[in-house]
Amino acid sequence: MSRRKTMNPEPNDPALGDVLVSADRLQRRILGLAAAIAPTYAGRRPVLVAVMQGSAAFLADLVRAWPEPVDTVHVAAESYDGTRPGRVRLTLPPDLRQQVAGRPVLVVDDIYDTGATLSEVCRALEALGPADLRSVVLFLKHRAGGPPAGRSPDWVGFEIPDHFVVGYGLDYRGRYRDLPYLAVFRPVESGR
Ligand code: IMP
Ligand code: MG
Repeated sequence: MSRRKTMNPEPNDPALGDVLVSADRLQRRILGLAAAIAPTYAGRRPVLVAVMQGSAAFLADLVRAWPEPVDTVHVAAESYDGTRPGRVRLTLPPDLRQQVAGRPVLVVDDIYDTGATLSEVCRALEALGPADLRSVVLFLKHRAGGPPAGRSPDWVGFEIPDHFVVGYGLDYRGRYRDLPYLAVFRPVESGR
């Protein structure tokens, strides 16, 4: 395993800051989340709708920690341009209605920042007639301007301070998703 994948961020990457949540804490918390959420769906086999790409790592660990069978579906959401939030663009699979209509649906997302992504995803899913609709996010950011408006998640893994973060699925321009921990990211201004 390379240095970068250990507990300490890559020493030669000045953009990576403090580790906010270690790989061990992530794994322990996800076990706890699965145990806490699963009873809500006992005997009902939920459909977990993962918001890609950021929630890939979380989904993979969450379903393996889940004590009962679940189904999974991916939807794609894009909003960030580098470290700046923008308009949410959703891409839904063509057979999504068949997969969620009449089923208990749990949206799985990586991080709740402005709340725009979760609201958009839930609005799209509501229109397809799920039996019920809940959501879990692994990280909830405490934004400087106070809590955001819009739909709030039913379960949260970790509350984190208002920094741009990378790792465990979260990226900066497509990079750092592979880190097994969550770290603060500080874009290095090149001046060019
Ligand atoms: P929201 O729509 O503002 O709540 O942001 C949610 C989406 O933006 C998440 O699903 C992430 O994909 C992305 N995002 C928000 N904050 C960060 C961050 O700090 N690092 C990387 N991606 C982020
Ligand atoms: Mg996302």
